[in-house]
This record gives sequence, structure tokens and C-alpha cells, in this order.
Amino acid sequence: MLTIKHILKSCVQPLLKLSVTLAFSSSTTFAYAETNQTIKREPISPIPQTIEVNKPKAQLGKILFFDTRFSKSGTISCATCHQLEAGGDDNVTMGISSAADKNIINTPTIFNAGYNFRQNWDGAAKTLEDQIEMVMHNTHEFNNTWDNVISRLTMDKNLSKIFKNIYKETITKGNITDAIVEYEKTLITPNSRFDRYLRNENDALTESEIRGYTLFKEYGCISCHQGVNVGGNLFQKFGIFYDYLAERGNIGRPDFGKFNTTNRQMDKFVFKVPSLRNIAVTAPYLHDGSAETLKEVISIMGKTQIGRELTPDEISLIESFLRSLTGKYDNKLLDKTL
Ligand code: HEC
Ligand code: HEC
Repeated sequence: MLTIKHILKSCVQPLLKLSVTLAFSSSTTFAYAETNQTIKREPISPIPQTIEVNKPKAQLGKILFFDTRFSKSGTISCATCHQLEAGGDDNVTMGISSAADKNIINTPTIFNAGYNFRQNWDGAAKTLEDQIEMVMHNTHEFNNTWDNVISRLTMDKNLSKIFKNIYKETITKGNITDAIVEYEKTLITPNSRFDRYLRNENDALTESEIRGYTLFKEYGCISCHQGVNVGGNLFQKFGIFYDYLAERGNIGRPDFGKFNTTNRQMDKFVFKVPSLRNIAVTAPYLHDGSAETLKEVISIMGKTQIGRELTPDEISLIESFLRSLTGKYDNKLLDKTL
């Protein structure tokens, strides 16, 4: 049987082709208008510079995103863990939690999540809507019920009026979710230097960054991390060539990945390949937050995913490429009041 290990060992090219096809067939929930610029033909595509959203719904979603009435304790909102001024995550190993203990898995960034083919590390949520459903009930997150949240929000006359104006109905699970998802669509970070390079601004990258990108392709990182999100469109096993988790020890349920939803042995330690967009500002890394720095995680990826002991020089070059993936979030996008 031809496994990914064999393909990676022998030749990266066939897998690359396969992955690129997958990248284009993965669905995004965004409707966008692309400009007429020509774009380099590369396995990574730029984040669209404009998006079409329903502005009133997105503005309402923004209010809800910061609303702590969603959590049972009344102290936590989406924005507590997904801090927009701090890379869209919480910058700690195991996230903030509404339970007495800490969260059990690292918080991924919310930026560009709409471009992922599934949500969460193990891809358990098929859509952004499903993902919100999970946040509501997760004991580490809102630890709440829809009935409770809807009755709290409905007591707010002003908020009820905004819902009535936009949705022509009272506050429901459906319209709350719809508004938050519409807001999530605006959380994109276009115009990274790498994207400008893809748009043929050739001096947007330094020579080392281009060399880092070339290594990223030649060594096969690109076979998993590609498409518009430089990841987010495939499931892959973590630990193909080297069992990092065994070395780390203390393996528990969050490490099982996709297995937790399918119960199939073959899905053990299989994760959604994470997006590398804005990776420079979302440390610590990996689902367990066990890698503190970019250099560390690049070295781990070399060992576990491509079977190579990367040299310090190679690591630095790849790191410089990854740093060019930091984009810009336009927080003025929804400034107009409702
Ligand atoms: C207590 C902290 C916390 C709160 C509150 C929280 N999240 Fe998260 N979020 C997380 C963690 C941790 C994960 C990873 C969960 C997993 O993979 O099992 C996550 C994952 C996500 C993802 C998936 C990203 C990806 O790349 O897969 C999205 C989207 C998201 N959250 C949106 C939201 C929204 C919208 C809200 C509010 C309705 C919210 N989150 C509230 C901590 C939080
Ligand atoms: C076979 C698929 C595959 C290949 C090849 C691969 N990766 Fe990954 N990468 C993954 C998976 C899966 C994860 C998530 C692992 C986890 O957290 O359990 C990941 C995680 C990462 C992360 C951390 C992301 C985060 O948000 O914490 C970085 C950075 C990264 N990879 C870079 C690279 C680099 C650089 C290479 C090449 C040296 C590479 N990857 C090769 C599948 C792959």
C-alpha cells in the first residue's frame, strides 16, 4: 500500500498535485470579489482582498462576539479566548477555561477560520455553525445552554430590537449563530508580504524568505500546508516518521485527534493540518501548545512529518518564510454603528 510516508520519501511531486486539487475543491463560506491582478501559479493562493458580507448581520455578530452573557459564569465571551489584537488566539499553552482547571487543548486563531474545510484541531466541527454549537456546551468554554442564553439576551430590550430589525423575528439560536458566523467571515488577514509576492510584487519578499519558501516546497511541507490557508484543507497523522507524542508522554484524549469522533484506530493522532497564516503571532504551537517557538516547531515538523533533521540554517530560512505570512486585519471594516 502506498502511504503518505512512501510518497514523501520517494517523491513529493505526485502528492503535491493531489493536494492542490483538494485545495481547490474544499469549500469556503466566503463570497468575494477578486481583483483583476494576475497571481503567481503557486500551491498557495492569496487571501482575497475584499469580502462580501451582510454588514448589519456582521455588526450584530461583532456585538455578540464580545458578549459575556453567553458563558454560564457570565465572564467569558468568544473574544476572551480569541483576542483579535493578539493574533486571534490567547497566547497560552492550554487556553483560558470557564472550568476551574485550564483548557485541555491549545486555542487556534480565529483569523481566516472560514477558509478551513473543517473546524477545531480534530476537524470535529464541519462548519462554523457547528463549531459555535460546540462552544456553547463545552464545559471549558461557555458551559451553557441555548435556552439560558436566549432568555438572558431577550431581556435586553435594545438588543432584541436590533434582532427584530435585521431578522424580523425574536432572538433564536438560528439568528444568533447566523450573525456570529457573518462576523467571523470578516476576520480575515489579507495583504501579508507573501500574498503581495504572489500578486507579483516581487520585492515584497527578501531573498532569504524566497529561499525559505523554496525549501518549504522542496522538502514537502507544502504537501500538507497549502491552499489559501497554507493548511486547513486536509487531515494528516501527526508523527509519521517519529513519535513526538510518545516522547512527550502522558498521552490523553485530546492527543487522539480525529479518533475521538470516528473511533477508528486509523484516525488515532490524525489532525486537521493547521493553517500557517499569521503563525508568527500565534505561539505557542501544536494542539498541546508544547512548542514555544517557531524554530522549535519547524524542527519538530522536520522530524515528525518529513523525516528530516533540519539544520539551524534551514530552520532559519523556513522561519523567515513563515514570518512573511502575517497579514493585516482591517478592524475598521465594521466601524459604522447599527
Ligand atoms: C474558553 C475559551 C474559548 C472560548 C470562549 C471560545 N473559544 Fe473558540 N476555540 C477555543 C479552543 C480551545 C479551540 C480549539 C478546540 C478544539 O480543537 O477542540 C477553539 C476553536 C475555535 C475555532 C476553530 C478554529 C480552527 O482553526 O479550527 C473557531 C472558528 C472558534 N473557536 C470560534 C469561536 C467563537 C465564534 C466563539 C464564541 C461563540 C469561541 N470560539 C469561543 C477556545 C475558545
Ligand atoms: C504530512 C503532513 C504534514 C507535513 C508534511 C508537514 N506538516 Fe506541519 N503540521 C501537520 C499537522 C497534522 C500539524 C498539527 C500537529 C498537532 O498539533 O498535533 C502541523 C503543525 C504545524 C505547525 C504548527 C501550527 C500551529 O498552529 O500550532 C507548523 C508551524 C508547521 N506544521 C510547519 C510545518 C513545516 C515547516 C513543515 C515542513 C518542514 C511541515 N509543517 C510539514 C502536518 C504536516
